[in-house]
Amino acid sequence: MSRLIVVSNRVSVPQAMGAAGAQGGLAVALGAALRENRGIWFGWSGKETDSFTGHLDMQRNFGVTTATIDLEPQDVDEYYNGYANRTLWPLFHYRIDLTEYDRSFGESYVRVNQRFAESVIPLIEPEDLVWVHDYHLLPLGSMLREKGVTNRIGLFLHIPWPPTRLFVSLPNHEQLVASMLHYDLIGFQTEEWLDSFIHYIKKEMGLKVAKDGTIEYQSRRIVARAFPIGIDYDEFLEASRSADAIGAYDRLKNSLGGNRKMLIGVDRLDYSKGLGERFDSFDRFLTDNPDMAKDVVLLQIAPPSRGDVSSYQLIRHDLERKAGHINGAHADVAWVPIRYVNRGYPRSELAGFYRAADIGLVTPLRDGMNLVAKEYVAAQDEEDPGVLILSRFAGAAPQMQDAVLVNPHSPEEVSDAIKQALAMPLEERRRRHQALLASVRDEDVVRWREHFVEALQGKGADDHSTAGN
Ligand code: ADP
Ligand code: F6P
Repeated sequence: MSRLIVVSNRVSVPQAMGAAGAQGGLAVALGAALRENRGIWFGWSGKETDSFTGHLDMQRNFGVTTATIDLEPQDVDEYYNGYANRTLWPLFHYRIDLTEYDRSFGESYVRVNQRFAESVIPLIEPEDLVWVHDYHLLPLGSMLREKGVTNRIGLFLHIPWPPTRLFVSLPNHEQLVASMLHYDLIGFQTEEWLDSFIHYIKKEMGLKVAKDGTIEYQSRRIVARAFPIGIDYDEFLEASRSADAIGAYDRLKNSLGGNRKMLIGVDRLDYSKGLGERFDSFDRFLTDNPDMAKDVVLLQIAPPSRGDVSSYQLIRHDLERKAGHINGAHADVAWVPIRYVNRGYPRSELAGFYRAADIGLVTPLRDGMNLVAKEYVAAQDEEDPGVLILSRFAGAAPQMQDAVLVNPHSPEEVSDAIKQALAMPLEERRRRHQALLASVRDEDVVRWREHFVEALQGKGADDHSTAGN
């Protein structure tokens, strides 16, 4: 097996089971992938330094070697908070209204990608596969090539790729995509994001794309394909059977009182997750169903994220206001409709919370995949499972057609879905859950990694017949 060099913006040092661990799909998925592969995970330490030195901090924890660099405050501000999270993140999540176009952000993005390239090169041996992750590092492959790296290099994008009409609003979009065409393999979460990328390649660059996703560009061959990410099912199952999970389940159930039903939402505090719209929908449900209202509680766990970016500060204030308003309008002395919690939990406790919830409410406005939907399904009691309500606009939706699918922009539709889920007969809940569980179990993170790595090694992509423009 070739050694993997994984490169991502953030490196999450693996922790023991039960620790308040990594938050974010990328961190959770890569920890699992690297444990089974003697590789190195390289990226930013999350720390700042007055002057960039490129010093590598190497560590080995729970079978995974990590190598990290510190960045200068200006890098963090303009590359991470700036280009990555004020420009690319909103644009790629279809939020052109929140997208900031600032030339200094773009310059820092290039500078930091160069710093990543220079720092990771000493770690790369001739037979290694290099696997770059996400929107922070789109041009890294081209910079590695410029510096003479000839290894196979792949990119996996964890977030959506936007429609061409939105993407072309990005200054220098041509250079950004041309820089991506130095990878051997570019992976997307879903066919929809892949189609948007291919549309751009054909319409804006005039290139041909073969049926298997092969693009020929300046005598290079790049393959673009979808590889939907999954959860570490075995690890999650173990976590959900642990004493901590059972304790968390009991605590939460006891706190509900009587036969009260619980809905759960678990999301980083991010505008793409549709939290404001979710609260509005729950408000609609409470207003339209006064007879059922006091028998239901929404637990929303939302750890703060990217707090230096103003759009994230705004959503935080907005949600606090909304939760306060809804609770003020509907609460009674012995019942508060929304429990709004801004902190992270160990995975085992999270698994217990999911299991205690009758409904998993996963309603992003746009999401590359969404692992919470898969974790909710994995944590259910097979005999008496809860119901997953899932946004049609989550990348997970095509694989999870047996969820109750909703348009998260419509409070009426989500409110009706809550009502439908609360009344759903046991037989239907079991049937839906079994179908969902089969895909969550089979299409897990191990399969995702194996498929990506096989494709990066050049296996399984033989049909190079050219599709029409
Ligand atoms: P994203 O990568 O955009 O954050 P995903 O749904 O794909 O969204 O992944 C989120 C991951 O973060 C899941 O594995 C989830 O369990 C974890 N997570 C989210 N909120 C919390 C929390 N409060 N405590 C612990 N883990 C959390
Ligand atoms: O899944 C998208 C993603 O940006 C990951 O790359 C990241 O680990 C996660 O969300 C959390 O974001 P951040 O690293 O900005 O806290």
